[in-house]
Amino acid sequence: MIGLGHVGATVAYTLVTKGIADELVLIDTNSDKVVAEQYDLMDAIARLDTSTKIVVQDYAALKDTDVIISAVGNINVIQQDGDRFGELKFNEAAVQEIAPKIKASGFNGVLINIGNPCDVVTAYYQELTGLPRNQVFGTGTFLDTARIQRALGNKLGVDPKNIGGYVYGEHGESQFVAWSTVTVNGRPVGEIEADYRINYEELETDSRRGGWYIFNGKGYTCYAIATCAVKLARAVLADAHLAAPVSTYHPGLGTYVGQPAIVGKNGIESLVFLKLSELEDGQLKSSAEFIKQKFDGLNR
Ligand code: 2OP
Repeated sequence: MIGLGHVGATVAYTLVTKGIADELVLIDTNSDKVVAEQYDLMDAIARLDTSTKIVVQDYAALKDTDVIISAVGNINVIQQDGDRFGELKFNEAAVQEIAPKIKASGFNGVLINIGNPCDVVTAYYQELTGLPRNQVFGTGTFLDTARIQRALGNKLGVDPKNIGGYVYGEHGESQFVAWSTVTVNGRPVGEIEADYRINYEELETDSRRGGWYIFNGKGYTCYAIATCAVKLARAVLADAHLAAPVSTYHPGLGTYVGQPAIVGKNGIESLVFLKLSELEDGQLKSSAEFIKQKFDGLNR
């Protein structure tokens, strides 16, 4: 786990309490914080039914790890009601610092990036680690998809996990809900829209801006994103072949972008190409274009 802020610490806690990792390496620029997290987690292990060996600040130990999760960021540069590009400069420099160390360790597992702006930072990690594209992906719109599941599920009185479908595109402002893929208890949403007077626009705002609602209230978000990252890490460790919308390299669009893929032991096992509407196809292209432009603007 690289980056032990609110998100990284929640990921580490979840990995330990769920007994997912037999060994966990914690790395952060703040050594006092990372050692404190290590001790707090080790004290929890005395009361858990599973055990995890916790190592700190050791890049060399990454050589044998199966999964790296990076949650690097700087909360102080994020504006209330802003966008995720507030952290770009900080995370660009962080990746320049971290990626060569990952590379030098001989790591050859799967790297999952959470850091924002997620799609651009993920692409940069891939470039600077030199890992194959399938071995580097970002949490991307897995989180935004959870938010639309929550918003639509709440509206209809349906448990969020029974809402199907995907948010595509950037983990940011240019994302969109691919309504043509959305189902409620398996039924296409279009079949029930008249009965429930579904306001698509309002719901979509919930998915796009949901993170900011939480950020404005508590100063950060952590539980939903950590749960997404842990589920993806578990899918890699268990070779689950989980279909999930993540930030992955799309060869047709020439960029990392949020779209469904199959996640297994090799990271991205394959992409899932659903038939989108013409409007959605256009939205995906323009979101990809936006990400590409931002990536090209990095100081590489
Ligand atoms: C989120 O959407 C901050 O990107 C993070 O919760």
